[in-house]
Amino acid sequence: MSDELKRKAAAAALEEVEAGMRIGIGTGSTAEHFIRLVGERVRAGLEIVGVPTSERSAKLSREEGIRLSTLEDLPELDLTIDGADELDDNLNLIKGGGGALLREKIVATASKRMIVIADSSKHVRQLGAFALPVEVVPFGLGSTERALARVLSSCGYEPRLSLRGGRQNPFVTDGGHHILDADLRHIADPDALSDALLRVPGVVDHGLFLGIAACAYIAGDGGVRKIEAAR
Ligand code: A5P
Repeated sequence: MSDELKRKAAAAALEEVEAGMRIGIGTGSTAEHFIRLVGERVRAGLEIVGVPTSERSAKLSREEGIRLSTLEDLPELDLTIDGADELDDNLNLIKGGGGALLREKIVATASKRMIVIADSSKHVRQLGAFALPVEVVPFGLGSTERALARVLSSCGYEPRLSLRGGRQNPFVTDGGHHILDADLRHIADPDALSDALLRVPGVVDHGLFLGIAACAYIAGDGGVRKIEAAR
């Protein structure tokens, strides 16, 4: 059911894709629906070029026959379409459940517009029920984790951090980093939290996407709803 809703959100966003566009291609199960739908249009003659946000999405895009490029060759994109783990009414997001948050954020901010596609279970009043992914360099992992715990405490959160994949076999991102998932329950002030996290040496980035998304297509039982950012 939720998979069908993800496909419907992806299909609605596909309407925004026009011939000649440079498109940032997201990561995750919802973005994969989008990639397959774009693939159908490409095979029917649509000409676009895509910049993928992960090796996984690059592989699927190639299989679908989508022409790919990089931000070196195309530093500015027209549109990025990507999923989210959570989004609020202001279109602030938590992303990174699939581990691609760094490339996703670079590609989204290199785009004139970012469009989020999601099923309605992702739409929340307040961010934070989904554990916030924090991408860190492997060097100094133990110290970075302690520093993050101190920062989270000073921001009023219980510092519940877990290394994705575990100590024995930690998950490695496409950029060669690890992810600490921070279970925060409720994020009262996303901007303050973002600033505090980015001040910790060893933190590469985090999954809060604040003021980046321009609109979202949210598919629920009653159909697909479009939310625009109030900016
Ligand atoms: C990938 O790192 C994530 O940011 C995904 O966009 C996010 O986890 C949504 O994934 P699903 O579409 O699979 O729910």
